[in-house]
Amino acid sequence: MAKLTGHKKTRTAVFISGTGSNLLNLIKFSKTKKSPISINLIISNNPSSKGLRFSKIYKIKKNICNFKKKTIAEKKLLKILKKKEISLICLAGFMKILSKNFIKNFRGKILNIHPSLLPKYKGLNTHERVLENKEKYTGCTVHYVSPKLDSGQIILQKKVRIDKNDTPKILAKKVLVQEHKLYVQSILKIFNL
Ligand code: GRF
Repeated sequence: MAKLTGHKKTRTAVFISGTGSNLLNLIKFSKTKKSPISINLIISNNPSSKGLRFSKIYKIKKNICNFKKKTIAEKKLLKILKKKEISLICLAGFMKILSKNFIKNFRGKILNIHPSLLPKYKGLNTHERVLENKEKYTGCTVHYVSPKLDSGQIILQKKVRIDKNDTPKILAKKVLVQEHKLYVQSILKIFNL
C-alpha cells in the first residue's frame, strides 16, 4: 500500500450487510488526524441494513446493490467505485462473496474482518462452532480478500480467551470489541504507520 503523501487521504468504501458497528468505528477513525483513509462510500447488499443510517448521519454517499443478480451488481459496483475514485475497500460484516473477476478488476486493495483466528473457522457461525469444539481461545482476523473465502494474506489477528459461561452472543460481543481495534491497527499497518 502506498505511503501516505501530503495530507490526501486514501478514498475508501465500506461494504456492509447488517448492524454496521465496524463501519461506524472506521468512520470515526477516518476523522482523526492519524487516519490515512477517508470513508467516501457505503455499499450494502441489504436495503434494510441498520448500518445505512450512518450514511445520512455522516453525509457519506451510499449505494444498495442487489446481489441476487451478482454479475450486474458487481459491474455497477466497479463503475461507482471508479467514479468515486475509491482505492481501498473494507468489508465489514458484508455477507456476500465477491467474485474472482470483481477482485481482479478492482484496482485497489480489499480488506475483510473475520470473527475467528483464521485459517481456523472460516465461514459463518464461528462463535457457535468454537464453543461446540470447546476451544480455549477464539479471536478475529483482518486479511486481504482473495478469490478463496476467508483465505487471503493475514494482516493482523487478535486472540480472545473463552470463559466457561460464554455463550455465542457473549463471545460475539467480546470479539467485536477487539475487531474494532484490530481493523484500525491493520489499516495503520498496511500504510506503514
Ligand atoms: C462482525 O462480527 C464481523 O466480524 C462479521 O460480521 C460482524 C459485523 O458486525 N463479519 P457489524 O455489522 O460491523 O456490527
